[in-house]
Amino acid sequence: MENLNRRRVLSLGAALGLVSVTAPAKAWAWPSADSVAGSGTGSDPAYVWDDATDPLMASLLDKGLVPSVNKAMASWVNNGDPLPGGLPADLTAHLRQVNRLPSWADSAKLARAADFNRRRDTYLFMLYGLGSGIMSTVIPREARSVYWSAGGADMQDRAAKTFTFGYDLSQLKAFEPTGQFVVTANKTRLVHAAVRHLLPQSPHWAGGADQDIPISAADILVTFHSLGTYVRRRLLDWKVPFPAADQEAFLHSWQVALHLLGVPDAYIPQTWAAADAQSAQVLTPILAPTTEGKELAEELLGLTAQIDLGVTRGFLNEFVRYVLSDEIGDWLGLRRDYAAAALVRTAWPAYILFREGLSPLMPGTFYMVDQFVRALAMLFLNKGSSATTTPITIPTGNRPA
Ligand code: HEM
Repeated sequence: MENLNRRRVLSLGAALGLVSVTAPAKAWAWPSADSVAGSGTGSDPAYVWDDATDPLMASLLDKGLVPSVNKAMASWVNNGDPLPGGLPADLTAHLRQVNRLPSWADSAKLARAADFNRRRDTYLFMLYGLGSGIMSTVIPREARSVYWSAGGADMQDRAAKTFTFGYDLSQLKAFEPTGQFVVTANKTRLVHAAVRHLLPQSPHWAGGADQDIPISAADILVTFHSLGTYVRRRLLDWKVPFPAADQEAFLHSWQVALHLLGVPDAYIPQTWAAADAQSAQVLTPILAPTTEGKELAEELLGLTAQIDLGVTRGFLNEFVRYVLSDEIGDWLGLRRDYAAAALVRTAWPAYILFREGLSPLMPGTFYMVDQFVRALAMLFLNKGSSATTTPITIPTGNRPA
């Protein structure tokens, strides 16, 4: 059984391009020497949450102060904005500590990352949206907590709010005073702290979860690997030109994002090699289907299918299988369309080769694929309806039963 499991992990990891090391370790074995801090206690981040934020948010929720906090925070948007008036004094004091870049942030790298995000936005939309977005539904803890939290009842709104994070991260001035990412990350950190207090009160969470308190530092690292680490690997697999300086800058923007989300520096990978090793340990072995995840995937793909992407649902299913593996496609019950599968597997590489100037021949399928990519990018940019991002607010309850 142990061997079977190990083989399954290795083959799934290989399909996702995420595993290059041998077996997943059981205990936390990732060396803190490979972190941005350069050292640490080596304690398992599965048991690390957010001591600076969680008790504060629990008390705000218990005192019924969150609606007024949300109201006050609505006008707090740009990194350079003063903290809003009308917040409880302890929250203001806390935000004063954390609403800033870490001392190790490198503004040249962050500027380069923003430029990279802009240059590569089409591939990033495809990979974050259809790769990472659907992968999140086979990360059991994430799928369960998203499903049973308040936002799970309205996936369109939740997807729009999550998009705000990616959108603000990829703006040219994301980390500068006129950008919005530092504020968005801080609001997200508060949302996560609220979920840690609220979700354990849900009867569904108590019934189905394998941890007492959701969203540990390890869980956040898992999600990072399903986003940044996965996307980098796919871009390399697809032979999209990706110079070392761009790769480093891309990692740096994620390092700063993780810090702002409250992950201790001792767990944030210093290099891509360290990130790959950590991903092999924490992400690949835990991927699995859940009832909640299957429903979320169907809802997410259904939302996408509402928009005319110029392709069939079969093509969409097969594209997800192409970027995530057939094993994951089977877990999620994505209906097969073998003609579309053959098309995806030839048209997509040909599209990239031509687009990147690596082949002079324009494939016959170029316009079809291009329409798909553009429609998906527009879907993310406009969320199918409005042209502005959706403000992130702190929840006050869970998904109704
Ligand atoms: C909320 C991003 C990790 C569970 C949010 C929001 C953002 C976000 C932007 C606010 C949008 C909203 O309220 O829907 C991220 C990022 C992560 C991360 C960038 C890591 C890099 C996780 C993990 C879990 C999780 C690991 C669970 C295991 C949730 C839940 C909500 C939330 C349950 C609240 C949903 C609601 O009730 O509205 N996250 N998240 N997140 N996140 Fe995360």
